[in-house]
Amino acid sequence: PAPGWAIDADVVVVGSGVAGLTAALRCAAAGLDTVVVTKARLDDGSTRWAQGGIAAALGEGDTPEQHLDDTLVAGAGLCDEEAVRTLVTEGPGAVRRLITTGAHFDTTDSGDIALTREGGHHRRRIAHAGGDATGAEISRALVEAVRAAALHTIENALVLDLLTDSEGRTAGVSLHVMGEGQHDGVGAVRAPSVVLATGGMGQVFSATTNPSVSTGDGVALALRAGAEVSDLEFVQFHPTVLFLGAESEGQQPLVSEAVRGEGAHLVDGDGVRFMTGQHELAELAPRDIVAKAITRRMHEHGTEHMYLDARHFGARMWEQRFPTILAACRAHGIDPVTEPVPVAPAAHYASGGVRTDLRGRTTVPGLYACGEVACTGVHGANRLASNSLLEGLVFAERIAADIAGTRPPRTRPAPPRDDEPAPLLAPEARRAIQRTMTRGAGVLRSAESLATAAEELEALYRGADTDAEGPKAVVPGVDAWEVTNLLLVSRVLVAAARAREETRGCHWREDRPDRDDEHGRHHLVVRVGPDRA
Ligand code: SIN
Repeated sequence: PAPGWAIDADVVVVGSGVAGLTAALRCAAAGLDTVVVTKARLDDGSTRWAQGGIAAALGEGDTPEQHLDDTLVAGAGLCDEEAVRTLVTEGPGAVRRLITTGAHFDTTDSGDIALTREGGHHRRRIAHAGGDATGAEISRALVEAVRAAALHTIENALVLDLLTDSEGRTAGVSLHVMGEGQHDGVGAVRAPSVVLATGGMGQVFSATTNPSVSTGDGVALALRAGAEVSDLEFVQFHPTVLFLGAESEGQQPLVSEAVRGEGAHLVDGDGVRFMTGQHELAELAPRDIVAKAITRRMHEHGTEHMYLDARHFGARMWEQRFPTILAACRAHGIDPVTEPVPVAPAAHYASGGVRTDLRGRTTVPGLYACGEVACTGVHGANRLASNSLLEGLVFAERIAADIAGTRPPRTRPAPPRDDEPAPLLAPEARRAIQRTMTRGAGVLRSAESLATAAEELEALYRGADTDAEGPKAVVPGVDAWEVTNLLLVSRVLVAAARAREETRGCHWREDRPDRDDEHGRHHLVVRVGPDRA
């Protein structure tokens, strides 16, 4: 739809998690006229749900080099080493700057930042806040800083498409805003630099730790704009998500890896620990290894979940160290102080996304990406625990420095192309997509399951604008756009998962159980473009 209103800026940041707000604050501090648009409220999105913490070599004896080694091992041969080096060397400074911005991390009795462990880390390296409410504290601090700096923010704004000028350079975004006074309905923010920080796509699956807003909007926009997207097959399934029944759909409560970092055990229904002997780090093996071990044990036992046993923590430790998780478990009638917690893997994090260089530039001039929406190369085939908040921080700062250094001139969007737009999908298709993806492209995949998923998704795509009774009139609105985005990213994800005929990192093919270093050490890069999305 044609924009009904427009505003002008130097930079528009799309998304308000750690990556988006950090980029916006730094751009504004550099004197750039910056607008933040976000799909719900400023503090919605995945950042505020992050529990365990933020990884950085802050502890005595730890070094960026050791953090690099752990990240590369978790990434299963597909990390970009230069990107990881950037992350781990700039990480400690970025965390300190976040503290200066106002985030309060938990400290030891001697006043140092308290550090815990998580899967894949050989050291205590994870800074946390409020025990297990790290993301909420980071979000609080950044939102307050944005308000204090009086940044121009537009909430309840779903970004639709990238606008480009006659040379194909970024010229802003079109967006649909709901009930925000002067900026209501479909409009545009015109700016020569657009920073995508829209988060992930966990809602592609039936059960996920992601909030309902994580519908892959940024990746879908980038695909439609012709940007390169990479590594979408690498969806990370968090091993320990509170199991609330096989029928429980949507966002599920996370039980942080930090609980295992502090000594909780994974046990089966007979109370037997099953991670010992599987990996030198046992329960703290990289996340893909733990998720696979849990899934295998579930299959062997014919059960839908395993258990996390941390009764030995006692009430005091649960209350002080993991208050959020304790409250979530108790709200569902489970008391971790007296009983093991039922857990199962659920979709958690997109290791791939919109491909960027080390400055956060995508392949479309003027379009940047940071945070979960991006594929900077730091995660490879499997993100190391608690590297995501850090990645958001470090690469957002780099993007702001790049824009402040280049200061591209404002440009006018070219008139919209008149090709037939992709059909909008009816909101009711959301569940069908999620179920198809969970069955066919979930934690365990095969050529057959992926082929079935691809067929079902194509049927949804072909039937988007017609059904047995003739043309469908889908009312353009946020629900319809979200589902249309879910379908697009699902189709690309399944195509990538079919093309990767091996098991690597969090991509687990039961028909191709081995890692194939001869053919698999490459990235699957997809570029679709406006005419084919
Ligand atoms: C957790 O707290 O287990 C999540 C940490 C992460 O996803 O990095």
